[in-house]
Amino acid sequence: GELARFVRGLPKAELHVHIEGTFEPELILAIAERNGLEGKLAGYDGDAEAWCESQRSLRNFDDLQGFLDLYYAGCDVLRSEDDFYDLCMSYCRKAAAGGVRRAEIFFDPQTHTVERNALPLSVVINGLHRACVDAKTGLGLDAALIMCFLRHRHPGCTWASPPAPAEEPLSVLEEAIANHRHQIIGVGLDSSEAGNPPSIFRGVFQRARAAGLRCVAHAGEEGPAGYITEALDIGVERIDHGVRCLEEPTVVRRLAQERVPLTVCPCSNHRLQVVRRFFGGENPVRAMLNAGLVVTLNSDDPAYFFGHVDKFGGTHGGYLPANYVVTAHECGLSADEVVVLARNSLESSFASPKEKEVHI
Ligand code: HPA
Ligand code: ZN
Repeated sequence: GELARFVRGLPKAELHVHIEGTFEPELILAIAERNGLEGKLAGYDGDAEAWCESQRSLRNFDDLQGFLDLYYAGCDVLRSEDDFYDLCMSYCRKAAAGGVRRAEIFFDPQTHTVERNALPLSVVINGLHRACVDAKTGLGLDAALIMCFLRHRHPGCTWASPPAPAEEPLSVLEEAIANHRHQIIGVGLDSSEAGNPPSIFRGVFQRARAAGLRCVAHAGEEGPAGYITEALDIGVERIDHGVRCLEEPTVVRRLAQERVPLTVCPCSNHRLQVVRRFFGGENPVRAMLNAGLVVTLNSDDPAYFFGHVDKFGGTHGGYLPANYVVTAHECGLSADEVVVLARNSLESSFASPKEKEVHI
């Protein structure tokens, strides 16, 4: 409709998107076949259309962990630099078509280097980075990479078997600093939040900051508001999700006072039942705007979070424009408020002031 057209035409930044979460079933299948791995795809019997459809029907989740299990499984077929290039380039094409001028793209190195496969870090980063370079020249999309640590990979995590050694995130970081410093702009923290507080990663974030890397962290999605405070206290400059700040007025006050940007993902929050479990079904963006917070809208894992039915019965895809449209409907945003959200995203990016002028 008219709103969707308006939203697509607005210059925007996407500050919270996991590249592994943009992996559409069709591309999973194409890359699996290229690597001779289609036999390993659960439920695939040679009927591509049926398999993609069945994958989409699996994309109904009770919580973050239910989603993460499917999201990590999809990563199994990624093996070569070209696989990572194609994954990233597919996202960049969709983003550019939706009016995204700047994308700060998360990736989970440990998924590929230790958990699902044992790929060299250079395969992952060189493939993703080459796509970012081509997106700039070919699509006019300024794309940059943020390397995320898996927050469940620490010795105290009881369900990760075997538990990860304490030095794992720091050794990934040191390798990235030594060999890929110019290919990433920052570090983040993602995966299973509850029970895995940011303070565990204090030393890693300290090292990242010393190397001039920008710092973000998921906090206050399924974890308590106190995790947002912890994230800020270890040097994080932008909070991913952060919606549960609304449960603690002192945390809201600090975020507003320090003008900390929050990268909210409305379709994700719906599809992972965050809205239902923590906000009585109400999209939290209205309350966050009213509290004077620097809110930005983002897609998180757009290939997985399509199909949200808003409270007026409209269905929406998972990419960035859908997140604006859903929120505009559910929160009754004015046109001015939609513009403010888009401007917040561009202003909250880690691009230089000179680069930002080009985005707007
Ligand atoms: N939260 C935590 N980890 C993630 C998410 C998320 O929403 N998406 C992909 N990894
Ligand atoms: Zn996320």
